[in-house]
Amino acid sequence: MSEKIKWGILGPGGIAHKFADALKAIPDAEIVAVGSRNLQRADAFANAFDIPHRHGNYAELAANSEVDVVYVATPHPFHKACAILCLEAGKSVLCEKPFTVDTEQAEALIACARERREFLMEAMWTRFIPVMVKVREWLADGAIGEPCMLTADFGNRVELSPENLGGRLFSPKLAGGALLDIGVYTVSLASMVFGTPTDITSLAHIGKTGVDERAAILLGYDAGHIANLSCAITMRTSHEARIFGTKGAIHIPNFSRATSATLEVIDKEPLRVEIPFTVNGYEYQAIEVINCLRDSKLESDIMPLDESLSIIKTMDTVRTQWGLEYPPFGSVL
Ligand SMILES: NC(=O)c1ccc[n+]([C@@H]2O[C@H](COP(=O)([O-])OP(=O)(O)OC[C@H]3O[C@@H](n4cnc5c(N)ncnc54)[C@H](OP(=O)(O)O)[C@@H]3O)[C@@H](O)[C@H]2O)c1
Repeated sequence: MSEKIKWGILGPGGIAHKFADALKAIPDAEIVAVGSRNLQRADAFANAFDIPHRHGNYAELAANSEVDVVYVATPHPFHKACAILCLEAGKSVLCEKPFTVDTEQAEALIACARERREFLMEAMWTRFIPVMVKVREWLADGAIGEPCMLTADFGNRVELSPENLGGRLFSPKLAGGALLDIGVYTVSLASMVFGTPTDITSLAHIGKTGVDERAAILLGYDAGHIANLSCAITMRTSHEARIFGTKGAIHIPNFSRATSATLEVIDKEPLRVEIPFTVNGYEYQAIEVINCLRDSKLESDIMPLDESLSIIKTMDTVRTQWGLEYPPFGSVL
């Protein structure tokens, strides 16, 4: 492995710019290549981030022998094809959330990584931010006793402008909707705390473009634990998560990008921790990838592939309950 871990960026859109900002601040990382479906867009991104190799298609990026690991940042339907393209070219992959659109895609992607013995991880960045590490410590230490209930909501108000209505979030052709875009953070949090649910109940409002604009999900677990989740793309909600246990609770304001959390143990003073990001929060998932690669690991213990699959299966069940299917996505390659 090279001295610095050498990154390629695939799909230089909105989130790729933020991730590149984070990577530029990590001494052990170097962005060496970017791939776009259009060379001018690759050039613009490369110029902005001082990247030497720019490619006008994704296959060239995947074949670039300078690259150790590719960050896949296309819209959801194309994660699987782009990630497999890179794995088959011998690259490690950090794949944006949601891991894939459905179970079939997730199983194929995981099978490819395992057959090829290449590293693969879902970019569920909120798992790696320092406040969430502290929350896991509190849970492991039994600070709130047995965690039994959880609530989490994530809703953003996206204007119903003609431009947005034609964009990724509202388009069935790009697997738009609240669940896959931001509801996945609530499902992933519940998975981190309770594991795989055994009971799933949900409701959604499907808007005029044919995607879920708001949704509520109840997850039940064998031990009697319950998670109460909601998400929306047409209104801002509180973005709060609370984990309730037999001895207290954990409150995580702005949980998807948390920089503080409060431990509230019965009969004790609340303990609030505040841990600001070093850059913008996306650096911690990159550091996890780098550490895994340095340790020759094929997956992360914090965001393992079987758990990414379980999260996708839960969301498949939810969408089946709504009768929400997407049209064929076509090929991105
Ligand atoms: N972690 C986070 O906080 C976070 C935040 C936002 C989004 N995301 C995830 O990151 C992924 C990308 O989101 P984004 O908001 O960055 O998306 P975006 O800007 O709309 O698209 C990203 C890039 O994908 C490429 N692309 C390939 N096929 C495309 C198609 N059919 N339509 C549009 N673009 C296509 C485009 O690059 P070229 O054509 O130049 O190759 C585009 O710039 C999504 O899966 C999303 O869930 C994560």
